[in-house]
Amino acid sequence: MLEKRLLEAGQNHIARLLEDRVPFLSRERIEEDLTLVDFPLIQQLVNGNCLYEEPPKKEVAPAEVIPASFASSPGANTYRTRGEDLLRRGRVAALVVAGGQGSRLGIEAPKGVVKVSPVRDKSLFCLHAQKVLALSRNYGSTIPLFIMTSRINDAQSREFFAEHAYFGLDPDEVHFFVQGMLPSVTPEGKFLISREGGLFMNPDGHGGTFLALQKNGCLDIMHEKGIEEIFYFQVDNPLVKVCDPLFIGLHHESGARMSSKVVRKRGFEEKVGVIARVDGKTRVIEYSDMGDEIRYAADEGGAMLHWAGSIAIHVIRRDFVETLTRGDLRLSFHKALKTIPTLDEKGNPAEEKGIKFETFIFDALPLADTSITLEVLREEEFAPVKNMTGEDSLESSRSMQSDLYRSWLEELGVRLKPTTLVEISPLLALDRQEVHARMAGLPREIETDLYLPGLDEEP
Ligand code: UD1
Repeated sequence: MLEKRLLEAGQNHIARLLEDRVPFLSRERIEEDLTLVDFPLIQQLVNGNCLYEEPPKKEVAPAEVIPASFASSPGANTYRTRGEDLLRRGRVAALVVAGGQGSRLGIEAPKGVVKVSPVRDKSLFCLHAQKVLALSRNYGSTIPLFIMTSRINDAQSREFFAEHAYFGLDPDEVHFFVQGMLPSVTPEGKFLISREGGLFMNPDGHGGTFLALQKNGCLDIMHEKGIEEIFYFQVDNPLVKVCDPLFIGLHHESGARMSSKVVRKRGFEEKVGVIARVDGKTRVIEYSDMGDEIRYAADEGGAMLHWAGSIAIHVIRRDFVETLTRGDLRLSFHKALKTIPTLDEKGNPAEEKGIKFETFIFDALPLADTSITLEVLREEEFAPVKNMTGEDSLESSRSMQSDLYRSWLEELGVRLKPTTLVEISPLLALDRQEVHARMAGLPREIETDLYLPGLDEEP
């Protein structure tokens, strides 16, 4: 019985409220929430086990990184061709993690619905889907799109795709899957009541991707389709070069199991994880877990030692995910202290300090025997939308997108006013080479904001 289970787990306060039949608690909801709770695990976490520990500074060395200049060297072509070959043979899947809400941007909806493109106001989901569609057309193959949602936003995300006719993708090739949840707890390990009268739960972090892929049958789908490599990215970056053939080729040819892209950090304090070598293994040290010794580490000339900022783009071998999920996969948990909207014992809205436990996908990096790290240019591949204003905001992202597209047109000799915004549809061109090949004959001078649609798109 419900009350008994709660008492056994030391959650007497909730058992008592249920016994008292208080109107603000929903028995059904609590019952449903409890089906997701791994009690022994929560107990271990409260006792401080399975938690991430920052590595001691002396063991941390800068990562080995393939420099961005490699992309334009003659040696890159072999790898690019290899990546293209995998795409052409349908061996690559795209996977976007979109379990978070746009709360930091002031919207209570999936972040993927936020409109971000500079002229047409396309949503993040639209841009990602159109890139996948364009790639599938370019390579004459199918690139399935896997979208990880959470209980909080799954229905809305699915509806959004359905309302927009899957942005032209075959609905059978779009696979939504829901990540797991964990209860947030007080520092003493007590569950908190949600404003809806259930338990306050949080998504289990993007480290939950692996188990969610397995539990939702997505690994089987990938297996059946012959997918070898998973191109993983976050929903918040409209400049992501989805399924970049060079990155895929480099990773694949090196026999890597999980690889990463980085950009040069803006400065010591930029809020990105850094890729480093710890005890001879590649890993990400997350900004929120990073002590000052690592954050501010510099060489004799004062230059940043840990400049390799993770942009959370990885290529992961499917069979690596299978190996990880076959055993008892347990990435270490990171904990964050948050102010949680809850109900007090009388049912009044209250706020309480609670601990949120999450796992992070990049903690699988040190488990990969081989891993490569590729530097890319921020202005070409990383313009995330994270904050309301300032750096990494909607405004900064829009102007970075427009600046990139402008530069492609300017290279063709087109003159634009400094204030002119430019947007090029992924369905027209995905990179400067495609723009240059497809856009001869543009006017020499353009005065108004410009949107260049794909051939079968409305202008
Ligand atoms: C993240 C990375 C950071 C990296 C930066 C680059 C983490 C913990 N840190 O920081 O190392 O340098 O991006 O932009 O990710 N998500 C889920 N389910 C969850 C939690 C998150 O799907 O349970 C998704 C979100 O929808 C989002 C992404 O993961 O797409 C990142 O999450 P967020 O918490 O915003 O991480 P950042 O602080 O931006």
